[in-house]
Amino acid sequence: MTSVLYDAIGELVTCDPTVGDGSPLGLLHDAAVVVEDGRIAWLGRSGDAPATDDRVDLGGRCVIPGFVDSHTHLVFAGQRSAEFAARMAGEPYTAGGIRTTVGATRAATDGELRTLLDARVAETRRQGTTTLEIKSGYGLRVEDEVRMLRLAREVAAETTFLGAHVVPEEYRHDPESYVRLVAGEMLEACAPHARWIDVFVEDGAFDADAARVILEAGRRHDLGLRVHANQLGPGPGVQLACELGAASADHCTHLTDHDVAALTDSGTVATLVPGAEFSTRSPYADGRRLLEAGATVALASDCNPGTSFTSSLPFVIALAVRECGLTPAEAVWSATAGGATALRRDDVGRIAVGARGHLTVLDAPDHVHLAYRPGVPLASVLAG
Ligand code: NIG
Ligand code: FE
Repeated sequence: MTSVLYDAIGELVTCDPTVGDGSPLGLLHDAAVVVEDGRIAWLGRSGDAPATDDRVDLGGRCVIPGFVDSHTHLVFAGQRSAEFAARMAGEPYTAGGIRTTVGATRAATDGELRTLLDARVAETRRQGTTTLEIKSGYGLRVEDEVRMLRLAREVAAETTFLGAHVVPEEYRHDPESYVRLVAGEMLEACAPHARWIDVFVEDGAFDADAARVILEAGRRHDLGLRVHANQLGPGPGVQLACELGAASADHCTHLTDHDVAALTDSGTVATLVPGAEFSTRSPYADGRRLLEAGATVALASDCNPGTSFTSSLPFVIALAVRECGLTPAEAVWSATAGGATALRRDDVGRIAVGARGHLTVLDAPDHVHLAYRPGVPLASVLAG
């Protein structure tokens, strides 16, 4: 057993409202944390800490739970900077761009995909992320979806089968057959490598009937449900997610009052991904409205080559504060404890005895700096 004391923490964000200042962030000042064999063993005031094998002096810096990025598409080849440039020149985003990445991903070897994936995971860690969800969805053939999930599983426990990302080119004239493939043979092959199933519910992707068939089939294979919902316009995604008991409805950009009420009344987390709105020059999701209504809000990167090629939760936090109406405290909670709730995890996203020892340090005295100093690389993984 090795124990490490992380000492002289200026502000400790625990995300445990039963400690410290009693706020949702559970703030402690002049604090210390002991991590023993990968778990939090003790936390409290500096000076009261037990003896440990090693000691790290944080010099008054802020420590938060490692970010929990509950929505990423990190397994892909190629990139679409020309599509981004065209959008910034006035072109709209369409789901069809996904097929470009499908072509590049199918053409890549496992080795090439692994190298790209490893580099992206390292990039997330350099910005303070310790838990990642990773989706398939750029294979859209049985063998390619399986290999995406196998690769994702090498680096993350939270893997999501997204065969229903878009109807691939070869099924363009027969989308019903593709839905049958996804809910049948493809799901059968992918389920052993996934914890979750997701569907992109949108005009140009999948309608509510197809999504229901696919999600219910996923549930029969013991997969938890997630939905890409109400991204490009109003639609049935959020209602379907809440009705089926999905863990999360992601995007939530275009919501009716009825959608907000459904999210509030269900256990479905509203996961906002403002990096996508930034990169598609779309209106931002109204996080304030969701919080005022009592919904649980998570923040995620949605890292993908089409709509949000950022792996930075600090950037997402800054956007959520500036554009979605969250306070800095709410945004930090949503990118840590909120992401954990969206993944139905209670061992990450907070600093409490027994939780995983996933600590992120900020080169700053408090959590507000994540939004106050946008674009400055303040966050990095300290442990975990
Ligand atoms: O979450 N909305 C669907 N999927 C991605 C976009 C993927 C792409 O354009 O390649 C998203 O924004
Ligand atoms: Fe996405």
